[in-house]
Amino acid sequence: KKLGILISGRGSNMASLVEAARAPDCPYAVVLVASDKPDAPGLGWAEGQGIATFAQSPKGMAKADYEARIDAALRDAGVEAIALAGYMRLLSDGFVAAWRGRIVNIHPSLLPKYKGLDTHQRAIDAGDASAGCSVHIVTEELDGGELLGQVEVPILPGDTADALAARVLVEEHRLYPRVVAEWLNR
Ligand code: GRF
Repeated sequence: KKLGILISGRGSNMASLVEAARAPDCPYAVVLVASDKPDAPGLGWAEGQGIATFAQSPKGMAKADYEARIDAALRDAGVEAIALAGYMRLLSDGFVAAWRGRIVNIHPSLLPKYKGLDTHQRAIDAGDASAGCSVHIVTEELDGGELLGQVEVPILPGDTADALAARVLVEEHRLYPRVVAEWLNR
């Protein structure tokens, strides 16, 4: 399957998907990395790997026009499934409907807990014993679609949000390629 990845920044989850695609039995190939931030560090990394990239800032554009550009780039590249990897923009209902069931996201919490931002600080403030990461199908509801996989990570005494985020990120990099492969094989 031809996979397109949407990013907004660092792109470490995107890189873990790209690296996992080198395995001979991997059911997907990353054919396009697209970003709403033309200066996203992940774009340069992907280019260095020889992967096609596309950058489109939404600034000064209607959301529908911005998304139409992204959609066209994905379709031109032959993309069949989309992985969001630190893509910090809400997709419109229309975009989600056009790609129904074919978009996944990774979120740094044990969904359904802590949808949205600041997940690690919220888990620490709540006194939770553990945090984690989740991969889910993208629907119109933010961080709300079918759960495909999850990993739990302990919260340690004295944890800061940054320390916890780093511990969870290690697991994100393992979880995402595994779950995307299972999803595309099912
Ligand atoms: C990750 O923590 C991911 O779960 C969240 O945003 C962060 C993106 O990091 N959605 P990166 O750009 O993949 O390094």
